[in-house]
Amino acid sequence: LGSTGGCANPSRDQTARLLSSTTPLPERFSVPFVVPPVKQPVSRAGGASAYEIVQRRAVLEILPGRQTEVLGYDGLLPGPTIVAPRGEQVTVTHRNELYLPTVVHLHGGHTAAASDGYPTDLLLPAASPTGRRLSGHAHTTGGASGVVARGSRPYVYENEQPAATLWYHDHRMDFTGPQVWRGLAGLYLITDDAEEALGLPAGDHDLPVMIMDRAFAADGSLAYPSLDPRLLETPGVRDPYTAGVLGDVVLINGRPWPELAVDAARYRLRIVNASNARRYRLGLSPGPAGGGAPFLQVGSDGGLLAAPLSQHEILVAPAERFDVVVDFGAYPVGTEVVLTNALGLGSTDAVMRFRVVRSVRDASRVPEHLAWWEALETAPDTPVREWRFSRGGAGGPAHWLINGRAFDPDRMDARPRLDQTEIWRFSSDLHHPVHVHLSPFQVLRRGSDGPGRWDAGWKDTVDLTPTETVEVAIRFTEHTGRYMLHCHNLEHEDMMMMAAFETMA
Ligand code: C2O
Ligand code: CU
Repeated sequence: LGSTGGCANPSRDQTARLLSSTTPLPERFSVPFVVPPVKQPVSRAGGASAYEIVQRRAVLEILPGRQTEVLGYDGLLPGPTIVAPRGEQVTVTHRNELYLPTVVHLHGGHTAAASDGYPTDLLLPAASPTGRRLSGHAHTTGGASGVVARGSRPYVYENEQPAATLWYHDHRMDFTGPQVWRGLAGLYLITDDAEEALGLPAGDHDLPVMIMDRAFAADGSLAYPSLDPRLLETPGVRDPYTAGVLGDVVLINGRPWPELAVDAARYRLRIVNASNARRYRLGLSPGPAGGGAPFLQVGSDGGLLAAPLSQHEILVAPAERFDVVVDFGAYPVGTEVVLTNALGLGSTDAVMRFRVVRSVRDASRVPEHLAWWEALETAPDTPVREWRFSRGGAGGPAHWLINGRAFDPDRMDARPRLDQTEIWRFSSDLHHPVHVHLSPFQVLRRGSDGPGRWDAGWKDTVDLTPTETVEVAIRFTEHTGRYMLHCHNLEHEDMMMMAAFETMA
């Protein structure tokens, strides 16, 4: 777990140890779908609530009959879900009972800088690897100025933002990929009255679908570094290692290719791509062409869309969220509906299955108008910033750069002013899911056209495709301090594809 430098170049031997090449993978759609547990606060009063999460090792049965050690929030994979009503201040005190430093970031949160999880703001383990209690003052290392805590520390979230599907995950500098891979990720949902009044599918018809691909060694342990060995054999894939770390087992809420028995009714699926590097092009089979249902997209990263958008497929890059409603009432009882992945190879070409088991009266609805929408205004004199994402290290091991530079936590690459709308222009050589902390943005242009079909709504992550330029309008309205933008391919992120900016009053 200690090295990142080697992870771009796993050898063939390492991939050969994958479960898939030694024992058959578990049968798909044979494990029941589960919803991660909702975390209960230790206190809730006066518009504030307090939570405690312990980061610890645990041995779980992820694959039937096999034992897998994870690093989990509360020892779970994914971690417990936090549900926060809009405007309620949430304090999550994390206690690190692992053997390595961690950093917690709430992805999509409009969070004050001190709680945003800057990659050098480390939470050190409570005890040394030998179990000895450590005392004394933690120190910062090198030039990387970070606020370092030992044992436990609080993260405060104001939740002054619209209802949305967020997630929290590790963000330690240079080690985010392996630490998220081993389990440090969970859901965080913000709810509000406006959303509740819409009558969207709710209760057990409102389900998180957190997608993570993983690779397992023959002994059941998580394998990292690794990649889908099939990539090595795939014609046209010149350099599979630039892809980041990929797995051949698809976990939904921590279970491999699960199946869910559903009513013939509408369901809201909160799709979160929590994979390190894999993109999914999701569809339903049978889908609209076969007389089935489309995805009715109702939300994206930052919350509800202005109006629902019918999509036959959705392309979900790492860290993106798509809130969709699927009407299983369009299917006869008894139908099996597979959630397919058109970008998958072999075992990854499907992610889960629904089985329509009973007809019910469905009182839910998807109104024509979902949320108030403010288009960010730009003018000819709107400031423009260029962010170019590219590969460095020609001829040698890959590393990843923004504007030709590697990440330096002490260097601020931009100082945007609060309340000033800016245009940020992202361009790239390869696929990079670009994520900006603190405030969401609106996609203005993709290439020479307007926004793409998956760019609707308030986004905090945008899928940058090779040689394409994406322009977004962004405006920071609250909190001054240090924040990040970076590639959310976690292996690219760990290999320096991050930049820091400081918001100024
Ligand atoms: Cu989801 Cu900076 O991260
Ligand atoms: Cu990237």
